[in-house]
Formats: sequence, structure tokens, C-alpha cells
Amino acid sequence: WNSAFSHLITQYTTVTGTLALSVFTAVLGSFQFGYNIGVINAPQKIIEADYNATWVHRYGEPIPTATLTTLWSLSVAIFSIGGMISSFCVGVISEWLGRRKAMLINNLFAFIGGGLMGMAKISRSFEMMILGRFVIGAYCGLASGLVPMYVGEIAPTSLRGALGTLHQLAIVTGILIAQVLGLESLLGSEELWPVLVGVTVLPTVLQMALLPFCPESPRFLYIIRCQEHHAKSGEDQRTTSRSGEVGDMLRKVSIAELFRSPMYRQPIIIAILLQLSQQLSGVNAIFYYSTSIFQKAGVQSPVYATIGAGVVNCAFTVVSLFLVERTGRRTLHMLGLSGMCGCAIVMTIALALLDSVPWMSYISMLAIFGFVAFFEVGPGPIPWFFVAELFSQGPRPAAMAVAGFSNWTANFIIGFGFQYLAELCGPYVFLIFAVLLLFFLIFTFFRVPETRGKTFDQISTSFSQHPPAMMDLDMELGKRSTELDYLGGEGSLD
Ligand code: GLC
Repeated sequence: WNSAFSHLITQYTTVTGTLALSVFTAVLGSFQFGYNIGVINAPQKIIEADYNATWVHRYGEPIPTATLTTLWSLSVAIFSIGGMISSFCVGVISEWLGRRKAMLINNLFAFIGGGLMGMAKISRSFEMMILGRFVIGAYCGLASGLVPMYVGEIAPTSLRGALGTLHQLAIVTGILIAQVLGLESLLGSEELWPVLVGVTVLPTVLQMALLPFCPESPRFLYIIRCQEHHAKSGEDQRTTSRSGEVGDMLRKVSIAELFRSPMYRQPIIIAILLQLSQQLSGVNAIFYYSTSIFQKAGVQSPVYATIGAGVVNCAFTVVSLFLVERTGRRTLHMLGLSGMCGCAIVMTIALALLDSVPWMSYISMLAIFGFVAFFEVGPGPIPWFFVAELFSQGPRPAAMAVAGFSNWTANFIIGFGFQYLAELCGPYVFLIFAVLLLFFLIFTFFRVPETRGKTFDQISTSFSQHPPAMMDLDMELGKRSTELDYLGGEGSLD
């Protein structure tokens, strides 16, 4: 009895150990994603001063204001363009190299991007800074697809939502750390900002050191083995119905096919709309421009209010982490969207009344904190891992690419367009987001299914009305992946 018990304990700790290590290692990529979202907000004025110094050094006169604005907007927004381009390649790269090797090689981008940004000041080159932001954006675009896919594929069904939320938790931790380190008294100073933007290579080194100890996604390996098996065993295998189904589930699906085939059309529309609900909620208007939003709302010490928003952001991601396997994705997403919608309305009223009622500045600050809190309950973490849940093995990489691309494109539009919108609409700018949030709430209510506790293929069969035999395969896959995953037996798939 004793030995059975200790065997169980050993097995349990092995399971937890390998899984924890793999998830931790993967989300180091998400951490960098967050860090590079947050890092550019606080030191804006100081980096701009350096752009000016470079201009004076080159041309003997101060930089024209319009040129400086353009160079700065470019430095901020080119990050999302890097992300848009690379996220579109997630499918091809993750199929070609596998999830783990793709994450490993992606680190090259982080080294190059971090290096370029860190060396920009000493080289008197804003071009290097802009190029560095593009390259690190490309790193983040790949990470934003590879990490949720890898984590979703190695997670046991009952923990898939909670572990998926760790991707977002690492992002928000990255944002917060960047906000704190960006304080002028820490690294956001004239001399130290190159360190602030360059330290992004540190988590990269850690990830590269740990990745060799993490298993490749067993579901990915299974495809490779299965294909080899099919190739070896020839026609007879293909004639059995079971093998036909296997082929169907594992067959690579192109992006065009996702939209053409009726089986995938509904889930891909849901995937895209969920990503849009995340970005068009307006959350990054806060994360990119919080300092000036707080200023306009009459808040004293807006930099600390920004850090306050970062803390609320982290705290509520943890809340979601604990709720997601109990309450479910759909409910939390709807709760988050409706809360955000309410906060956007309160914020608008507070901003509109600010001139006549001075204490409205507190209300608007609370509304901003509430907006961020509700974001992290659902719309922040859920869309990232939900896409991996909606699709079975074959179409998943292409779906991740489409979803990631939609996310980054919307991110770019908000990052670039918000300032113009704010000028145009004044205190009413958040009403636009309130309307969009309401639309996404209605969409979620009518169209988004609950995925909690279901296997990947139970989810995809609910869209395609396939015969239940498909589920056997998923269970088998799940069982084998569990063996492979936790007990380290990569050969056990044969
Ligand atoms: C999500 C979004 C990202 C946003 C962050 C805020 O990860 O994808 O764009 O900045 O949440 O916490």
C-alpha cells in the first residue's frame, strides 16, 4: 500500500513538475510581450529629447515638432506592425519547426530587437530604435500565437482555461514591471533608458536555457507520427473509417479553407470576433495613453495612477485565473464586456461634467480602474486561449494565425487612431467603445459556446456534427499526450 501511495505521489509531483516548468518557460515569451507593450509609455519625453539631440548633432538645428511626432508615433506603432506580420506566419512556422523549436528560434528576434533598441542611444540613431521596435514586435507576434497554442496542447482538459490564463497573467506582469522600471527614478532616466529597453533580452536568455528541458507538444508529435504511420502502412489503413477520421482531424488546413469550409466558418468568425472584442474594447487606449488620459481627467500624479491601473490589471487577472474553470469562459467574457461597457459610460459622464464638478476626477479614475478590472475578468485572458480550444489539431495553427493577425491589426488601429479620435470626440470618445462593447456582448450571448471541461474535439464536433467516434480519438490523443507529457516518454506514441 505504501509503495502504491509513494508511486502516486511521485507520479503526481512528476506531472506537476514537468507541466509547471513547461508552462513557466513558455509564458516567459508572454512576459516579454507585456513588457514591450508597457515600456514605451513612461519614458516618452526622455527618449524624444534624445531623438532631438541626434537631430541637432546631424543637422545642426532642433528637430521640427511634426517630424518628432511622426518619429515617435512610428516608434510606438511599428511594434504592432511587426506583430501583425509575424503572427500571420504562426501557423506555417509552428507546423514546420514544431511549437517548442519555434519558440526557441523566435528568441533570435528578441536578441536582435533588444540589442538594436539598447544600442540606439550610443549609436545616435533613432532608426535603430524604430527598427528594434519592429523586430521585438515580430518576436511578440510569434509568441502571442505559439504560447497559447503550446500551453493549450500540453494542458489537461480540466486545467486548460487556468493555464491558458497564465499567458495573460505573464503579459500583465510584464506591463506592470515595465511601468515601474520606467519611473524616472529607476530606469526611465536620460542615461538609463537604453537599459530599460534592452533588458528585454534577460527573459530570453532564461527561456533559451529552460526550453531544452520542456517536452514538445505531444499533440504535435502525434500528428507527425501519425503521418509517418499513414505513409508507411499505405492504402489499407486509409480504407478503414477510423483512419479516415484521423486523417480528417489531423489534416493541415489552410487559411483560405478555414473561410471556405462550412465546418470551420462559424468557429473562425467566433475566433476573430473574440479577438476584436479584446482590442476594440479600447483597453490599449488606456495602456498606451493612460498618462495623458489621467491628466485630462484632472488626476494628480498621473504616472502613479498608471501604475495603479497596472496593479488592478494584474490583480483581476488572478481573479479570472481562479474563476475560469468554475464559472466558464462564456459567462466571464460576458461579465467582463458588460462591466467595461458600464464603466465606459460612467467615465464619459464624469469627463463631461469635469469642468463643473471637480470631484468627478476621482469618479473617472475609479471608472478607468473598473474598466481595466472588468477587462481582465474576461476579455483580456479568454480570447487568447479560446481560439486554441475552438479548433482541433489540423486547423488549429491556421486559426491561431488568423486570430493573431486580427488581434494585432485591431491593436494597431487603436494605437494609431485613438489620439485622433480623442481630439475629435473630446470627453465622449469612450462612448464609441461602449457601443462596440455592447455589440460584442450581444454577439457572445448568441454565438459563443461554452468550452469549459470539454475536450478539443468535443468542441469542434459541436460545430461540425461529426459522429461521436471522433471523440474516441481525442480521448486517446489526450491519454497518450498525458503519458508523453508528464512521464517524459516521447517514444510512447509508436
Ligand atoms: C491583452 C491584450 C493586450 C493588452 C493587454 C492589457 O493581452 O492582448 O493588447 O495590452 O491585454 O492587459
